Amino acid sequence: MAAIKNVALIGGSGTVGKAIYSALIAASFNVTIVTRADSILNLPRGAKTTSADYGSLESLASAFKDADAVVSAMGAPGLAAQPKCIDAAIAAGVRRFVPSEYGCNTLNEKAGKLPVFKNKVLTSSLLREKAEQGEIEYTLIMTGPFLDLALLRGYSGIDVRGGPRATLFDNGTTRISWTTLSDTGKAVAGALLHPEETANKQVFVHTANMSQRQLMVAVEEALGISFPQPYGQLSTEKGEAEAYEKLKKGDFSGMLDFLKRGIFGEGYGTDFSGKVSNELVGIQELDEAGLRKLIVDLFEGDDA
Ligand SMILES: NC(=O)c1ccc[n+]([C@@H]2O[C@H](COP(=O)([O-])OP(=O)(O)OC[C@H]3O[C@@H](n4cnc5c(N)ncnc54)[C@H](OP(=O)(O)O)[C@@H]3O)[C@@H](O)[C@H]2O)c1
Repeated sequence: MAAIKNVALIGGSGTVGKAIYSALIAASFNVTIVTRADSILNLPRGAKTTSADYGSLESLASAFKDADAVVSAMGAPGLAAQPKCIDAAIAAGVRRFVPSEYGCNTLNEKAGKLPVFKNKVLTSSLLREKAEQGEIEYTLIMTGPFLDLALLRGYSGIDVRGGPRATLFDNGTTRISWTTLSDTGKAVAGALLHPEETANKQVFVHTANMSQRQLMVAVEEALGISFPQPYGQLSTEKGEAEAYEKLKKGDFSGMLDFLKRGIFGEGYGTDFSGKVSNELVGIQELDEAGLRKLIVDLFEGDDA
């Protein structure tokens, strides 16, 4: 199988897109970032870029014309545009499409039903269909929640900066695969470096595999802090039920609760133990010392 060399990256100005861009460049791919014509976001310095009209198949196909692979790092508001991107990639003769996943196992039966993943599920089923017809190949990169971002922004439930305070989801005992942003980038680059092994597959990776409680203790030990007890408690089952009630009334404010259900709910598939491709894509799972260093580095400079 020929190597993948030229990559068109959609959403390269975003949080995940920047990490993917750095990893692709580090792995010597020729990368062109495709942006919306009216994008006002900052692109990585020195990046080769082109803009496209996401409503036009011709415009997208022209942006993808030299690409061996299209990687999407589209944020949630743009996910509905991915099917058109896939059609355009096929029209341009692109070999591999990597859709914007980078999180929960959206192919898990329970997770896949959560409304928050609707566009991701539609996209991956379209890709499966097109791959079966021999029109394009795909790779889905599954990372679980971002280890660094979830800690920095507190969506891990372990809130260092806003507290310290901890809210345990489902008692904090569900085992979860967590991946850093930089390892997410490595996973994409590593998958494209191994096109044969990663064709038409989900590629699971993780930087750490542990429950929310274990991560909370690791943060306490690394930073020398204590999360005050009693911890907050949140049932993701209850959160999901309330989010559905809101949705019935046209209220989308429960989307984050669906997300929490997908990440922390037992049986929702965010524990990737036994099926990670870390070695293939060049990711090393952190040991205790590595995790401690990552946590210390994350909060370095913060007031004690
Ligand atoms: N596992 C986790 O913890 C975690 C956390 C966050 C995100 N994610 C996932 O990672 C992926 C990327 O998320 P992100 O937070 O990096 O995204 P983001 O920063 O919000 O957006 C990424 C890029 O998408 C493009 N974009 C935004 N709105 C668009 C629209 N309406 N139409 C077309 N393009 C649009 C923009 O690029 P241009 O302006 O250059 O066109 C933007 O820079 C998503 O699949 C998300 O679910 C996972």
